[in-house]
Amino acid sequence: MATTMPPGTAELADLNDPDTFVAGIPHETFAHWRANDPVHWTEHATEHPYWSVTTYDEVVTANRDAEVFSSQKGGVFMMDPDEEMLAQLGLLMLTMDPPRHTRYRLLVSRAFTPKHIRDLDEFIQRSTHRIVDDIIERGSADFVVDLAAELPLQVIAEMMGVPQEDRHLVFDWSNRMIGSEDPEYAVTPDDAGNAQIELFTYCQSLCDDRRKNPRDDILTALINAEVDGDKLDDLELNTFFMLLAVAGNETTRNLIAHGMHNLFENPDEHRKLLHQRELLTPGVEEMLRVGTPVLHFRRTATRDTKLGDTAISEGDKVVLWYVSANRDEKHFESPMEFRVDRTPNEHIAFGGRGPHFCLGANLARSEIRHLFGEVLERMPDIRQAGEPQRLRSNFIGGIKHLPVEFTPGAKHG
Ligand code: HEM
Repeated sequence: MATTMPPGTAELADLNDPDTFVAGIPHETFAHWRANDPVHWTEHATEHPYWSVTTYDEVVTANRDAEVFSSQKGGVFMMDPDEEMLAQLGLLMLTMDPPRHTRYRLLVSRAFTPKHIRDLDEFIQRSTHRIVDDIIERGSADFVVDLAAELPLQVIAEMMGVPQEDRHLVFDWSNRMIGSEDPEYAVTPDDAGNAQIELFTYCQSLCDDRRKNPRDDILTALINAEVDGDKLDDLELNTFFMLLAVAGNETTRNLIAHGMHNLFENPDEHRKLLHQRELLTPGVEEMLRVGTPVLHFRRTATRDTKLGDTAISEGDKVVLWYVSANRDEKHFESPMEFRVDRTPNEHIAFGGRGPHFCLGANLARSEIRHLFGEVLERMPDIRQAGEPQRLRSNFIGGIKHLPVEFTPGAKHG
């Protein structure tokens, strides 16, 4: 719980405490650190102390330099993994360093051909249509549960070739594996482990099927992807499936939820989007900047180095606060304002353009654009009908529930 705080600044929020984030992102605290100590030493009651990096330039610098700021050495989460856990995490591309990471990323990227991306885009369009159809006659909904959560799940299941009737399984596994600090979603470590085993077994059966009956889909392309005679083995395929189920799910869901809430809080911006649809593209980027669902990732320094003016020693933990970098006043004009027509908008919600830059960035953008396109078109008077309930986490900036009302409409079928 302890946090290093300069004398006289007791009102600063504790960034280690998930409860801090239930009330919203502690923007004033981040602004304080950006102005006074952009790379500051932060104590932690149970985990390693770490450097909190809060300014844009420093986050980007560390993000780009995977040789000095390793994802592999100590994992990318604030919690310290034990040896066994670290070995398991090492199977995820997110937790690999080059050159292992470079090989893996090259192989999985081969599966996303322009045709597959186009097919997925059409699928997203059909899905958003169906999702709005499912609630449009009701006149009220929980925007998170009924809209924001549905789309990413359907898209991941489609990507991995999961048949329609099994899609609820992906929902269940990803929820159990993420294992949140929020009491509403809490799971035991055993349950999370079982979910992973079930997911691996399921993915293995899908892979076995595609080997016998190849199709023109992403899973078959992943199985066959080859670089210099090298292919992904079964464990790598299963782990990739698991990463997609986790990385593409909560992130996109929460971004969509934040995006809607930002429009409620800024009715002029909402009106702008209603009347100038061409603003949806920059509007999505602004939702990403202001929403920033992945609040931070951690790195471990592989040698003595400097970040800004701060000396970092080999082995030090370094937490990159994307959420703070995206509000850096040196980089964004009036960063606390939500402006759907903000350009340029070089936010780093998907990471700072380093080797781990989000693999699903364009897919996520397409999901967000299609969903808001449909909502603007068919629910033009959508309004907030209750307070948003925020996720208890200092890792994912989330909204669990957001009650909304709108004039009921007809299904389009
Ligand atoms: C709004 C939605 C999303 C956000 C904000 C987001 C954010 C991020 C961030 C911050 C990273 C790490 C970047 C870094 O450390 O440099 C990342 C990596 C990743 N994301 Fe996303 N993501 C989103 C959606 C998705 C989707 C839809 C997928 C796929 C279905 C996906 C798959 C991945 C994968 C596989 C990686 C690891 C890439 C690597 O290690 O090379 N993400 N994402």
